[in-house]
Amino acid sequence: MPRRKLPGQRPPLTHRQINRLLPFTNAPLFHALQLLATGDSARFHMPGHKGRPVFNTFAEVFSIDFTETYGTGNLYLGDGPIRDAEVAAARYFGAVDCFFLTGGSTQGILSMLAAAVGEGGSVLLDRGCHQSVCHACALLDITPYFIDAPLLEPFGIAGALPVDEAGRQLAAHPEIRAVLLTSPTYYGVRRNIEAFSVLCRAHGKKLLVDAAHGAHFTALGLPTPVLEGADLAVLSIHKTLPCMGQGAVLLCGEGIDRRALREQTVLFGTSSPSYPIMASIDLARAYMEGPGRAAYCRDAESCAALRQMLAQHTCFTPLSVENHAMLDPCRLTVCTAGTDITGRRLADMLWSEFGVACEMADSRNAVFILTGSDTGGTLLRLRRALRRLSARRHETPPPAPAAPFPPAERVMPVRQAWFAEHTAVPLARATGQICARPVTPYPPGVPLLWPGEKITGAHIALLREKWYNEDGDIRVVIR
Ligand SMILES: Cc1ncc(COP(=O)(O)O)c(C=O)c1O
Repeated sequence: MPRRKLPGQRPPLTHRQINRLLPFTNAPLFHALQLLATGDSARFHMPGHKGRPVFNTFAEVFSIDFTETYGTGNLYLGDGPIRDAEVAAARYFGAVDCFFLTGGSTQGILSMLAAAVGEGGSVLLDRGCHQSVCHACALLDITPYFIDAPLLEPFGIAGALPVDEAGRQLAAHPEIRAVLLTSPTYYGVRRNIEAFSVLCRAHGKKLLVDAAHGAHFTALGLPTPVLEGADLAVLSIHKTLPCMGQGAVLLCGEGIDRRALREQTVLFGTSSPSYPIMASIDLARAYMEGPGRAAYCRDAESCAALRQMLAQHTCFTPLSVENHAMLDPCRLTVCTAGTDITGRRLADMLWSEFGVACEMADSRNAVFILTGSDTGGTLLRLRRALRRLSARRHETPPPAPAAPFPPAERVMPVRQAWFAEHTAVPLARATGQICARPVTPYPPGVPLLWPGEKITGAHIALLREKWYNEDGDIRVVIR
């Protein structure tokens, strides 16, 4: 099929072309990024600013790259203009307090687990949690228990988390100190935080929410997790708002020892927190209180229109409120099940033929992050590209329901397995062994197997079928 160009579109550079163009200097990353930035592609992935900062000051980013000196404030002492910016952000997000993070939501997840669960404690986790939660368990010797969400068809992605199952686990394991949920998920599924909050209060547990993908909710009139009853929540400002990479915030509800919490952020943060990153968190919040709000509302409308167009005029299936009532209004998940291509193939074709880069793709879906920084032009390009690709596809019988990843038996603490002597073995020889490192397709960065879990033949079969080929290997504990 010949490549068709959309109006005004230059094809994106291939890796080989980029390499040929790179001058021989010692700044290869900078040059590679510069080439990509000056090329012509429609970016539907993080960071939320899409390479189009809404503030001109960012052209002079180095001029504001400061340190703790006269007038700049100190993040870890919580003073100066940094503190003022945190207070403004707390007000905007409806939180009792807010701490800036320059190590992404990862730093916030480590900090909130250290504060609410502590060394050697136990936690009840959404099995679809990000790998940083697993890292926290290894560092802090935390014992994880899990709740699994039934899969949403035909997407094969985690749907609503069963609150009653969480209640059963809390009753069975009274040593659990906190429950951690991911909401929204990478695919845009929101969880019923209010119901979990009621449950946690009834059992005297803390509720923690990884809302890394939900920093734009306030602009759309959706509550942040702390307004729905969570005790602590992290938001990656950089993922969906016009903020530099790694900018995130940790939000507190009532009754949190804030001094102790800030100390935990110090434990997991650099001693040189970036002022440009902190300033961009501050600017992103200010923007969302001004013109950003309308820009994101328009974006949510564009996302709804794209979902409708996909449902009516293509062979692809958009994740929409008909599939799951509670969704991120700005996340577009496009399912290719029932057609002759995979989500990954769709993503590759969008990039190679139309210069449209999605955020991630898996065997059944391609995921697009829409933000207030999208333009009419990039949205039109996405729309036309999806329609054109659909016109060339053939429908196939709907696939069998996606197989859930089989539950795993914990035979060793996460920390012990992580720090044990370990080796890589081919998948074919891993049955019966103990997993030493999280097995994590990235993105979405959700571990399928955790350190300390026993690897079964069923795990291997599914890993091979869906994620890794015959030659893949897996790290196992040496016994
Ligand atoms: C659900 C979820 N939580 C946490 C993180 C970590 O966020 P950050 O990259 O801001 O550290 C990610 C990263 O992709 C994520 O998808």
